[in-house]
Amino acid sequence: MRIVLVGPPGAGKGTQAAYLAKNLSIPHISTGDLFRANISQGTDLGKQAKAYMDAGNLVPDEVTNAMAQDRMEKPDAENGFLLDGFPRNVSQAGVLDELLTAGGLKLDAVLDLEVPEDEVVKRIAGRRICRNDSAHVFHVTYSPPKKEGVCDVCGGELYQRDDDSEETVRTRLEVYHTQTEPIIDHYRAQGLVVTISALGKVTEVTERAMEALGRA
Ligand code: AP5
Ligand code: ZN
Repeated sequence: MRIVLVGPPGAGKGTQAAYLAKNLSIPHISTGDLFRANISQGTDLGKQAKAYMDAGNLVPDEVTNAMAQDRMEKPDAENGFLLDGFPRNVSQAGVLDELLTAGGLKLDAVLDLEVPEDEVVKRIAGRRICRNDSAHVFHVTYSPPKKEGVCDVCGGELYQRDDDSEETVRTRLEVYHTQTEPIIDHYRAQGLVVTISALGKVTEVTERAMEALGRA
């Protein structure tokens, strides 16, 4: 399956993607995670992306599209993928459409996670991520690690993202409404959008998502 996951910052895209990718046996491709990996490795790409990310703005399309295409062309993505954080504006959606069409492929669904803004702010404020693996995501209240600051899965150090400050979150939400939400209409016109509520327990949201994708 080829799926695009969309939803505001903190909606739970990364959290759900980890389970969905496993259930559907497809790779989870997160442009945010790819940028963060480049930043921690000190690559040129990471240096280019960092200032935009820290300010809560989108990284320029040329950089993002090239990185996303490169990842989608890896052998493990041949039979499908779950895109998380890409495309993020209508222009990126157009590039993805072209890439897929050129390969004789198409998307199966665009899964839209709906969460009220006050909940999103709470989720982001309490989020803690493992330095060893960005798939190990915790929340100080909703899914606390057994030992404060330590990853339950691998023992790695938990940290708070640089762009999770209150001010940057406000910018990210604004960017989501103005630049990313329009892609939902873009895909609605193609009959691909399924919207689910992302409220409730993580497992409940995963079940809802699998059902919406016709894979329950
Ligand atoms: P990115 O990394 O994609 O961030 P985002 O879209 O802002 O989304 P988040 O990672 O903040 O949230 P999430 O929805 O994954 O939530 P999570 O599962 O962690 O992008 C970061 C930046 O990179 C962008 O601002 C931009 O600069 C750049 N970028 C990335 N892609 C780009 C692109 N295509 N073009 C240009 N620039 C790009 O959950 C959040 C918290 O809630 C966690 O603590 C979790 O434990 C908790 N939680 C999750 N589910 C539940 C639940 N059901 N109940 C209670 N708590 C829950
Ligand atoms: Zn870990």
